[in-house]
Amino acid sequence: MSKGPKTHLKRMGLVVLGVVALVVVGKLLFTPGGFGRYGHYRPGAIDDEVQRPLVHETDASCDSCHEWDASFHKKGKHKVVSCEFCHGPGGRHVKDGKVVGHLEVQKGGEINRLCLRCHDGHVRARPQGGKVIKTVLYPNHLEKQAVETDHLCNQCHLVHAPLEYINAAKKMFPMVKEGENVQ
Ligand code: HEC
Ligand code: HEC
Ligand code: HEC
Ligand code: HEC
Repeated sequence: MSKGPKTHLKRMGLVVLGVVALVVVGKLLFTPGGFGRYGHYRPGAIDDEVQRPLVHETDASCDSCHEWDASFHKKGKHKVVSCEFCHGPGGRHVKDGKVVGHLEVQKGGEINRLCLRCHDGHVRARPQGGKVIKTVLYPNHLEKQAVETDHLCNQCHLVHAPLEYINAAKKMFPMVKEGENVQ
């Protein structure tokens, strides 16, 4: 059977037509409703976002039930660190004013790891001096306090107001000066 001239071009044309048809049908099938009404944008996206359940809370919403912890948190250096940073999203814990689940409470070595996420002086990229988060070199910091290096940060620092005990100790033992050992 002899093939006419330019058959290969016809075949190629068919393939191109097929691809174009696929694109047109695909666009019709998969473009979400409302897209393009106000430009390259889907207006329904806003409603979808509004419908998403809230998971984050402000510190104020924790305070009413956790007055004790909040009272320290409010007056200490950690007032600038939100409850949720250390304990996770409030939405896992309380819904419509009722307790529905548990939040993270670090224990043992997890406590040191949490604190050092912000206070580790070994992180060279962290700005030093001036108005920045104070850092310590670990375990040197513990050696300086003349304690075993397996001490946890919360054995000396109240986690919610980290200088609370330390300032109290300094008042009780006035001979202890800035930077000196309080043991
Ligand atoms: C810098 C991190 C940090 C911040 C900020 C923080 N917490 Fe904590 N919290 C901890 C750690 C670590 C523990 C467990 C160790 C401890 O209590 O010494 C804890 C313990 C608790 C506990 C006791 C849990 C138990 O089962 O004994 C409660 C309740 C609590 N926090 C509530 C709060 C509330 C409410 C806020 C905000 C007002 C807050 N926390 C802010 C780190 C933090
Ligand atoms: C409606 C009151 C209420 C609110 C609001 C509330 N809590 Fe609690 N929380 C509780 C109660 C009650 C417990 C003890 C639950 C238990 O022992 O089963 C608790 C326990 C905790 C614990 C210990 C671990 C756990 O989940 O049992 C942490 C940490 C905590 N809350 C942090 C927070 C933080 C942070 C917020 C704000 C985002 C908050 N809570 C808001 C009532 C509340
Ligand atoms: C999210 C980061 C963050 C985490 C996690 C964190 N801190 Fe802090 N910490 C801060 C900030 C911010 C300040 C306030 C800095 C300031 O006042 O100059 C602070 C202040 C302090 C101070 C007082 C420093 C001073 O002399 O002014 C101590 C001590 C401290 N934190 C210990 C801890 C301990 C212990 C933990 C673990 C329970 C911890 N921090 C977890 C951010 C953090
Ligand atoms: C044995 C007690 C003890 C333990 C454990 C301890 N600290 Fe301290 N920390 C102190 C004392 C005391 C000071 C205050 C020193 C001063 O006033 O010069 C201090 C000061 C700090 C400061 C402020 C440093 C500055 O430049 O002013 C930070 C940040 C800090 N500690 C973080 C931590 C972290 C993070 C841990 C856990 C890895 C930890 N500490 C464990 C006793 C302790």
